[in-house]
Amino acid sequence: MILSAFGLLFTVPLSTAVVLRNDQSPDLASLKFNESLQWGACDPNIVQNPSISCAFFTIPLDYHDAHAGSGRIAVAKINATGERLGSVFLNPGGPGGSGLDSLNTIGPELVALGGGHYDIVSWDPRGVGPLTIPGDIFCFDSVEEYNGFWNGTIELNGIEMTGNFTDPADVQALLSQAPIMQKKYEELGQRCMQHPTGKYLKYVGTAATVRDMVALADALDGPDAPINYVGTSYGTLLGSWFINMFPERVGHVLLDGVVNPVSLATQETPYVWDEEAADADKVYEGLVTGCALAGPQACTVAQQGDSAVDVDATIQALLKKAHDATRKNSSVSVTSAAIRSQIAGALYSPAQWAALANTSYPEAVAAVDAESVGITSASGTRRSLRRRQMNDTVSYTTEAILCSDSVDQRGTSMKTILEDVITASRTSSRIASAVWPAPFRYCPFWPVRAVERYQGPFNKTLANKILVASNKYDPVTPLANAQALVDILGDQARLVVQDGFGHTTGSSPSQCFDEVAFAYFVNGMLPDGNDTVCEVDADFEIFNNVNTEDIVAAMTNA
Ligand SMILES: *[C@@H]1O[C@H](CO)[C@@H](O)[C@H](O)[C@H]1NC(C)=O
Ligand SMILES: *[C@@H]1O[C@H](CO)[C@@H](O)[C@H](O)[C@H]1NC(C)=O
Ligand SMILES: *[C@@H]1O[C@H](CO)[C@@H](O)[C@H](O)[C@H]1NC(C)=O
Ligand SMILES: *[C@@H]1O[C@H](CO)[C@@H](O)[C@H](O)[C@H]1NC(C)=O
Ligand SMILES: *[C@@H]1O[C@H](CO)[C@@H](O)[C@H](O)[C@H]1NC(C)=O
Ligand SMILES: *[C@@H]1O[C@H](CO)[C@@H](O)[C@H](O)[C@H]1NC(C)=O
Ligand SMILES: *[C@@H]1O[C@H](CO)[C@@H](O)[C@H](O)[C@H]1NC(C)=O
Ligand SMILES: *[C@@H]1O[C@H](CO)[C@@H](O)[C@H](O)[C@H]1NC(C)=O
Ligand SMILES: *[C@@H]1O[C@H](CO)[C@@H](O)[C@H](O)[C@H]1NC(C)=O
Repeated sequence: MILSAFGLLFTVPLSTAVVLRNDQSPDLASLKFNESLQWGACDPNIVQNPSISCAFFTIPLDYHDAHAGSGRIAVAKINATGERLGSVFLNPGGPGGSGLDSLNTIGPELVALGGGHYDIVSWDPRGVGPLTIPGDIFCFDSVEEYNGFWNGTIELNGIEMTGNFTDPADVQALLSQAPIMQKKYEELGQRCMQHPTGKYLKYVGTAATVRDMVALADALDGPDAPINYVGTSYGTLLGSWFINMFPERVGHVLLDGVVNPVSLATQETPYVWDEEAADADKVYEGLVTGCALAGPQACTVAQQGDSAVDVDATIQALLKKAHDATRKNSSVSVTSAAIRSQIAGALYSPAQWAALANTSYPEAVAAVDAESVGITSASGTRRSLRRRQMNDTVSYTTEAILCSDSVDQRGTSMKTILEDVITASRTSSRIASAVWPAPFRYCPFWPVRAVERYQGPFNKTLANKILVASNKYDPVTPLANAQALVDILGDQARLVVQDGFGHTTGSSPSQCFDEVAFAYFVNGMLPDGNDTVCEVDADFEIFNNVNTEDIVAAMTNA
């Protein structure tokens, strides 16, 4: 099964949907928190699959304050095809990923994985999308305003450096941005609060989303029914909060690509991010190893006879050349920051590696060659801006949810955070640590926290055992996180490791993993121990004639 992997670094595929701003709350008189859902056709701009039905579900903005008013979540489901065992709820991660989008993409595969016995249900959580209220969070009225606000800063330009901040001049250049970035982030917070969506900031967050899911499950399956759930990436955080906030409701739960809930409950998010990126360089090593194995015929970065070390050296040389050209003329469009950001994004999905090597790499080489002799590059926009653009402005949904959930502000300065970026490039990942902007870096300055957060304990006694999954090499949710979660839950969880690369097991196909998931959801069978390892399907070629096993073997022998 290839789940589209929604990233924490934010590579959420764009829905083509137009986003309306949602400032209107429904009439308070229509508040019915245990209403039945009216299923109908979906908005064809968002959901095209005709087997998916859509509905709205009313939610209170604040579960502990009825006076706060109400909103609604846009819900979608694919009906069970066989004897119905209940619903499986899905959250794709982000935070800020659209459940409607992801059901549209992977819903049919999930139906198959559940043997047709489950309705597969997803929704755009509060803070997400054009249909849910509150929907997407904005801080600027237009892209122009956004560009003007951040003009000349690392927010638009990314961070220029080589290696692991090898050149002290790059260290100085970054740290000299600290005062202006501190001021900008504080000002950003004020803008977000003053924007029409600002009044919702304290109501978006994972605890409320857990309660929305439980209310939805009450309406669909009854108030005592076990709740089945699949969460990937940040969706595992929603999962960890759910199973501990409602331990008696836990049905079949699969958490894949784990965010460590204890880290998020105890540390500021920039440091959490450094932990999350701990294996990014391992995945990068897989990429360059695969490229070297494939050779120049199947991976244009490699020259005949290159080792993985040689391929890395070629990429580092390109980054250095782009860096030097950018230092000469800060207006060039292909910067080292942009190339690094693109590589870091590709680490999520090995299925993209051949295209990165075949297409993006030669384009970058051509652009950087031209830049270094002073020719204006034709390749247009800077790539380091990873933020979602919609309705002519940019969404801050990811920051809003992540920061709502995060620990209180601790007065940490931007200087400390930028120093940490430099340290992390040496201790966590030289590829991923300096990618900027990164939502995890905002929260020390974000002015709002959610009206409810769940900060532990994370080892409640659950009604049913859960399944935890991780790739062996995941660039943003390292295996160590999944192991930590299983350690906390003890005998109440089983770990399955998929022996491959990418973000969540869904980033590569594995018949073995599908069988483990099927046995759990359909027959209630869990692996005996925590030592199940699933191979990625052998016919999944990352480069021509090079599969995951080849790369893992070459890395192990290195
Ligand atoms: C985009 O936002 C503007 C400003 O709020 C609004 O007037 C307009 O209707 C929106 N356009 C669409 C297509 O949603
Ligand atoms: C749910 O429905 C029951 C009966 O249909 C009603 O008595 C109850 O007040 C409702 N609860 C809420 C929170 O609306
Ligand atoms: C799915 O089931 C609901 C009833 O729960 C029904 O209203 C809807 O029409 C069904 N959708 C499809 C596409 O069959
Ligand atoms: C950014 O600043 C430069 C010079 O400081 C100016 O020329 C340019 O117009 C500005 N761009 C925007 C979008 O404000
Ligand atoms: C990459 O290039 C090789 C050699 O030309 C080709 O066989 C392969 O299909 C290409 N893969 C992608 C994803 O472009
Ligand atoms: C810097 O690069 C920009 C964009 O590529 C170009 O328009 C400009 O002429 C360059 N400036 C210098 C001094 O080379
Ligand atoms: C930076 O990278 C170089 C080359 O990989 C390595 O030798 C050096 O120890 C690293 N520096 C730090 C401070 O980790
Ligand atoms: C949960 O963890 C805490 C802290 O590690 C520990 O004191 C407690 O005994 C644990 N509870 C259960 C039910 O295992
Ligand atoms: C799985 O690992 C956890 C944590 O190490 C342990 O408590 C649990 O007993 C293990 N489960 C099995 C079935 O071995």
